[in-house]
Amino acid sequence: MTRPKTRILVDGGDPQETVRIKELLGFVDGQTTNPSLIAKNPHIKELIASGHKLSSREEMDEYNKIVRTISPLVGEAGVSIEVFSDENTSAQEMFSQGQEMYSWIPNAYIKYPCTAEGLRAAQMSVKQAIRVNITLCFSQQQAAAVYAATKGTKEPAYVSPFVGRLDDIGQNGMDVVKNIKRMYSKGDGHVLVLAASIRSLEHLLYSFFLQTDLATVPAKILEQWASKNSPMPDEKFEYKGSGKAIAYEELDLEQPWESFDIQHDLTRKGIEKFAADYRATLARPA
Ligand code: E4P
Repeated sequence: MTRPKTRILVDGGDPQETVRIKELLGFVDGQTTNPSLIAKNPHIKELIASGHKLSSREEMDEYNKIVRTISPLVGEAGVSIEVFSDENTSAQEMFSQGQEMYSWIPNAYIKYPCTAEGLRAAQMSVKQAIRVNITLCFSQQQAAAVYAATKGTKEPAYVSPFVGRLDDIGQNGMDVVKNIKRMYSKGDGHVLVLAASIRSLEHLLYSFFLQTDLATVPAKILEQWASKNSPMPDEKFEYKGSGKAIAYEELDLEQPWESFDIQHDLTRKGIEKFAADYRATLARPA
């Protein structure tokens, strides 16, 4: 198998899945997790089914155990761990969680949402050499803000554009990945593009074609890819995405992050869903 230039991360919350994919492909470069995926972890589901809901401390401890098991299985793209946040969570609160989570494993990336508070938390983090992954990104403007907010980081920051969720609302989600790559080609390379919310083999192959730095992929799609002998796109590859095209915007990456329009309805909805899935595992709402 030709190993793609795009680093492959498993998008999931079950270490057994990571083991399975590593055996199948022979490698796993990294892993991303999020509150919804952690709520679906088999052990957490068993606890909830047996009537044992968790305190927020227990939830953190369970999350810690899960990422500690995954950490040694993956390569240099690391394990992304997401802070718990809702629309009222301050940057300082996110940053405090991020500091704790960063101490769990040596290869952590802390995921903050692409909101003003999330970007402030990311700024605080990169100043302390904490690696970050800015999640729930749905637009080129948001990615420009991520670039500006993380300038000066010692290690590359990740930005995660969510392809499938844009497709869900009738847009061509892969266009955002393509546009961000094009915009960042004029920058200093401190932010890597991590294609996320990958729902099909076509998404994955087009990510390879675009030479996206990283892609996070559910085990199911990686199994499909492997079952077809891990094909790679050739130069004539055509992406058959449907959905409304998203136009490229000329943006100046040297502007302060606050000057970009970072509002996106899907970011707000994504935070709500993560918060709801997290709260569903708790004995008392956080
Ligand atoms: C990324 O880090 C997220 O975990 C993920 O890709 C979300 O995918 P979904 O839109 O299929 O939930």
